[in-house]
Amino acid sequence: MKKKYQQFQELCCLCPCFLELKCLVGVVFLDAMTSQKAKTVLTLNAEAVDSLKDGINFKKSPEDGKCYIIYKNSDGLRACKNQCKHQGGVFIKDIEDLDGRTVKCTKHNWKLNVSSMKYVNPPDSFLQDELEVEILEDGGLQLVELSPVDPWLADPREPQELQEGEVKVTYLTHACMELQLGQKRFMFDPWLKGPAFARGWWLLHEPPADSMDRLCAADLIYISHMHSDHLSYPTLRDLAERRPDVPIYVGDTSRPVFWYLEQSKVKLTNINVVPFGVWQNIDEHLRFMILMDGVHPEMDTCIIVEYKGHMILNTVDCTRPNGGRLPEKVDLMMSDFAGGASGFPMTFCGGKYSDSWKADFIKNERKKLLNYKATLVRSLQPKIYCPFAGYFVEAHPSDRYIKETNHKNSAEDLNALINKFAPEIKTWTPKPGAVLDLGLALKDPNNR
Ligand code: FES
Repeated sequence: MKKKYQQFQELCCLCPCFLELKCLVGVVFLDAMTSQKAKTVLTLNAEAVDSLKDGINFKKSPEDGKCYIIYKNSDGLRACKNQCKHQGGVFIKDIEDLDGRTVKCTKHNWKLNVSSMKYVNPPDSFLQDELEVEILEDGGLQLVELSPVDPWLADPREPQELQEGEVKVTYLTHACMELQLGQKRFMFDPWLKGPAFARGWWLLHEPPADSMDRLCAADLIYISHMHSDHLSYPTLRDLAERRPDVPIYVGDTSRPVFWYLEQSKVKLTNINVVPFGVWQNIDEHLRFMILMDGVHPEMDTCIIVEYKGHMILNTVDCTRPNGGRLPEKVDLMMSDFAGGASGFPMTFCGGKYSDSWKADFIKNERKKLLNYKATLVRSLQPKIYCPFAGYFVEAHPSDRYIKETNHKNSAEDLNALINKFAPEIKTWTPKPGAVLDLGLALKDPNNR
């Protein structure tokens, strides 16, 4: 199934990323024949977007005549196909719904609330598959369909009992976790030394002293995306000197994760570009699948790791992982939590960008992120949830103003919110070196 890079030069000629990939050495593309695809089904220009009214909007594609529903409110836009889950009937406005959120199927009167994408008749029944809404730079938008929507359901495996010590999750620092899964060690997003984003971000936590040894001993490494707090060349340079052939896996994003590899002079010889939504079998018990982000499919990814039928979901920094469609009731879910990752608006001044405007803005953004994460976790019902990938600080002296004003969410605040609304979900807030024994924790959530 593996194809050598040289054989892929031909394929890459067909792909717009060829210019960036053609000189990479040691990059292997894994078979993409059955991968998950993102397809644009409807495009609206800026004028059409401006004319969308609050509430329900019915739209038709001029290309193929297919119909879509776009719901607009102060939180933004949601969209789906105008196609009933029952037997494919077409929805029309439900005149009995005074709130303007519900549509009614013309075939057998099923009703769908498009503000929540839940069917209300039959009650508590189905969820409508959502389309991704991508806002374009010119003010237009695209509706994007992921297909298949839930590829992890392919070839399901029954969970087997885990022994004590069989699956251990060790938090190292920021987004770097080590998973020991039977005899294999799987490392996520190793940023272990040096700053990220030039000298803008620094590790908040010192990683454990043996972190680099652990990284060099890994059987496989996943790098979620190209941002330098996940793809850390200072870390990879040290790794390459000791383990140049360590298998590294990245998603097949249109903006390649390792676009800078050759210029960096870091010699890594076993980089594998993985198609989206396809299980990668590592041994008889261990497999993983990389999924794309719905908002930034060109560069951001997340991952499901499965060992003996137990799933670990890491949504990393994704804004809307896999378009919001994710496996429920996984054994462990981890995600970012902090916010404050952008230089906006703290690096702006003058005009409306007063200190109080900026403080209000980031307070609002942080609150929205906290609520979104809590809602997502609550809806997915993982057995254990761990916020991570937000442990950075703008420590350089020249960034003191940003450090003092760019407040971030705390992992404890998010966990408190989750504990309040979903007490059955156990939360884990690790410090560097902390270990979760998954087998023990599943038997007794208070025993980690
Ligand atoms: S097809 Fe929609 S209710 Fe039957």
